[in-house]
Amino acid sequence: MEAILSRHFHDPDPADLRVYERAGGYAGLRRAITMDPADIIAEVEKSGLRGCGGAGFPTGLKWRLRGADAPAPRYLVCNLDETEPGSIKDRALLFGAPHHLIEGMLIAAHALGVRHAIFFVRGEYAAGARVLERALQGAWEAGLLRLPDGDLRLDIHLSLGRYICGEDSAILNAIEGKRPNPRKKPPHISQQGLWQQPTTVNNAESIAHLPGILAQGADWFRGLGVHGGAGSKLYSVCGPAQRPGVFELPMGTTAREILYEHAGGMRAGRNLRAILPGGSSTPFLLPEHLNTPMHFDAVAKVGSRLGTGGFIVMDDRQCPVDFLLATTRFFARESCGFCTPCREGLPYVRWLLERIEAGEGDTEEIAALHALGAQIAPNSFCALAPGALMPVLSGLHAFAEDFLDHVRQKRCPYRKVAA
Ligand SMILES: Cc1cc2nc3c(=O)[nH]c(=O)nc-3n(C[C@H](O)[C@H](O)[C@H](O)COP(=O)(O)O)c2cc1C
Ligand code: SF4
Repeated sequence: MEAILSRHFHDPDPADLRVYERAGGYAGLRRAITMDPADIIAEVEKSGLRGCGGAGFPTGLKWRLRGADAPAPRYLVCNLDETEPGSIKDRALLFGAPHHLIEGMLIAAHALGVRHAIFFVRGEYAAGARVLERALQGAWEAGLLRLPDGDLRLDIHLSLGRYICGEDSAILNAIEGKRPNPRKKPPHISQQGLWQQPTTVNNAESIAHLPGILAQGADWFRGLGVHGGAGSKLYSVCGPAQRPGVFELPMGTTAREILYEHAGGMRAGRNLRAILPGGSSTPFLLPEHLNTPMHFDAVAKVGSRLGTGGFIVMDDRQCPVDFLLATTRFFARESCGFCTPCREGLPYVRWLLERIEAGEGDTEEIAALHALGAQIAPNSFCALAPGALMPVLSGLHAFAEDFLDHVRQKRCPYRKVAA
């Protein structure tokens, strides 16, 4: 597949406007500004583009549901917070495709009747934000921020850096200078969002796909996918693969092809044990799922989630309990503390995993993990806690014998291998 989003990833200066324009950049915007906003939305809907921030909600439908008569001012936020462990695709876009992001924001702003848009960038990506800033300066000097109904104000907001800041309503609190916990919905942010005005939040990759869709058409984009997927997708592979990294591939490429063809297979002497296909907050896939096409519906069919496409590989030397302890430590630390089941429950899950991993746990504690997992998720205020528990609950089933071995042997059975 031709490189689209990744076209300039290895250029010396992807922020250089001339380089982007020479490769056909801003053609999508030029077409979009001749179109009626409703037609742009219809084109995006037809393309089959689905939100790349995790949930996979169809982007065109989300825009249409906001309603053309939403009261002004309306806001648009590009979600570049990307704190999901295992996901580095938005970072790649920030450094390597800043003009795709700017052009995408201009197209979305025109479609949604927005005059003020914001890039919300993860704090640790400050160097990437500077690349984006340089690209933005070039676009502004070239007059590209002039839309048919007036100039677009396009700001860059650097996050202070917490996982919860990526949740679409917590972002808005963060921008408003408030404590960034999620907001109660309804009202949905599309009706009352930033400063109580209609607001659309889209992931960076969703935004970056827009220039191609507008320049080459919905059918072209849809046709890039394989096995029932639409468009292209950035998959980021990490863990004990030969060549971890970010790969732009047809949406729907099988897990086998991603791992064994593009990421070079497992490192020497390692055997595949499991994959988290969509970042750390998704259930495990096992080797028997390797032929699954990696698009939202196919991954859901086998009981997991495509999420962000952050493809975390686990080998047979890695203790699954220790692996889950690492992810749970992260999520327990990142709980915003707003609701009790998550604030108190995730540290308790972490404590149980610590005990089992240290060989101090018993079977009742394994049962407690099952019970807690089932209770915390449905009683939490936002999707952080259910996401944190997805790998734990699926790991309790997939690696049940490993959990029991820790109890029987009163130690981690993997320690001797790792030593
Ligand atoms: C705890 C939490 C963290 C999230 N972090 C991000 C993030 O870093 N980036 C992102 O795009 N979406 C993140 N999301 C999803 C957003 O709430 C939202 O669904 C997404 O930005 C919408 O964009 P899309 O429709 O283009 O996918 C997060 C959700 C939750 C619950
Ligand atoms: S589930 Fe966790 S992150 Fe979400 S509101 Fe509750 S405490 Fe905050």
